[in-house]
Amino acid sequence: MSSQSPVVIVERDANTVRELKQILHYLDMSAVDVPPEGDLVAIMETRPAPYMVMLGECGEPRTQSDAFRRIKAVDPYTPLLLLSSGDAAPAPSDLDHDALARVRLPLRQSEFEAALQKVKTYRENRHQEGSPRSLELFRSLVGSSAGIQRVRNMIEMVARSDANVLIVGESGTGKEVVARHVHHHSNRRSKPFVPLNCGAIPPDLLESELFGHEKGAFTGAIASRQGRFEMADGGTLFLDEIGDMSLNMQVKLLRVLQERTFERVGSNKSHSVNVRIIAATHVNLDQAIREGRFREDLFYRLNVFPIETPPLRARTEDLPLLVNDLVERLDHEGRGTIRLTQSCIDSLTEYNWPGNVRELANLVERLSILYPNGVVDVHDLPEKYRSAQVVARAPAKPYGAPAASGEVPPPAALANPRLPRAGIDLKEHLTVIERDLILQALEETDWVVAHAAKKLCMGRTTLVEKMRKFDLVREGI
Ligand SMILES: Nc1ncnc2c1ncn2[C@@H]1O[C@H](COP(=O)(O)OP(=O)(O)O)[C@@H](O)[C@H]1O
Ligand SMILES: [Mg+2]
Repeated sequence: MSSQSPVVIVERDANTVRELKQILHYLDMSAVDVPPEGDLVAIMETRPAPYMVMLGECGEPRTQSDAFRRIKAVDPYTPLLLLSSGDAAPAPSDLDHDALARVRLPLRQSEFEAALQKVKTYRENRHQEGSPRSLELFRSLVGSSAGIQRVRNMIEMVARSDANVLIVGESGTGKEVVARHVHHHSNRRSKPFVPLNCGAIPPDLLESELFGHEKGAFTGAIASRQGRFEMADGGTLFLDEIGDMSLNMQVKLLRVLQERTFERVGSNKSHSVNVRIIAATHVNLDQAIREGRFREDLFYRLNVFPIETPPLRARTEDLPLLVNDLVERLDHEGRGTIRLTQSCIDSLTEYNWPGNVRELANLVERLSILYPNGVVDVHDLPEKYRSAQVVARAPAKPYGAPAASGEVPPPAALANPRLPRAGIDLKEHLTVIERDLILQALEETDWVVAHAAKKLCMGRTTLVEKMRKFDLVREGI
């Protein structure tokens, strides 16, 4: 739990504020409070951003919804808990729809813990989305092929409904990306998106993972715990690799989908939840049904709206866009940048891509490590990605071609450059020359930057910037 990001308490009653602060302090969470009429916006904009907001007694209901609106205006994703006094559950208001949970005052331990768990899950998912890699992951479904356009249209059509969605496609084709998009474009976007990989969890633990358990329900259940269904209340539960679920669990899942209620393991108290299910699988479910490994009735429940993610080999026209996107992601993370030549892309287009976009992402990452800030040609590709035809067509390391690992171009290239017959990427070529001359200047001046800058007739800061850009550091120090 972050002790730096404070919990913001919006509440009129000073006693309540004091009590809440004590409890939060006990939980090692810092807190700030502000009256409903106070400068909420300033508090919300203070960094670090709040861990969550607890919105309590504001006097008039209108003041409360107004406070709510101002909070959400600064950050629509702030986790928000509504507080209500007394035992009587208040009539659910519009606010309940957008808040993560409602907790009663005085706080009950189990209720408050459950709410905090929800906030945590929500934040973890938001956090993933907010980190550079997944933000990029999430930014868009990259591609302009007919196949990917179709997927985008389907997402648009189904997102706002509550229909269950089944995403089918080979591994690495972006099923999780699609699931997150559906959630993001739905009315549930301010509620949690809770993923669960059904194939990665041992079958005997899956039930408790999905439905939670009570203390003592089985050996090792030392405390009661919420399951993913409860965590996802109001939001989306993403059941990944549903084809790997045991028949026994399929029956249990089907029951929840039919009745919308479930019990925690070790309890017979029914919980009801409002959860949208998105399931995904790389398994051919028709065949699994024929072979008796997947229940047909569950299939129909899940398959209300099917979306198929096309394999990469069926949309190779998207390769340049995808490569650009992946390179940009690496660059964004400060992991250097690379360029792929046309023949390199041509060669990748002919490859079969059994691992789809995930395999492409791994390849790009690997190339960026092998050729930091370099240009990658078909000859530089690992063997299996090299197409014989493309290699035959591509000139063997054309004269003046930028070297992948920053080899020194022949001096003649400087004195009397000739345009290669196949043409040249001028910008890349000049970059290589620039980098090389800077490196020479640095070496000749024993890496005294001021002296090297003088030799190159450039300002010291410009040189420092370029050294950073080209990743030039003195080796062996
Ligand atoms: N259309 C796409 N645009 C951008 N990145 C994608 C796309 N499809 C897949 N990816 C990337 O490929 C990787 C695998 O995607 P994922 O959704 O986990 O695939 P799956 O669940 O089908 O195995 C992720 O890193 C994801 O960002
Ligand atoms: Mg997946």
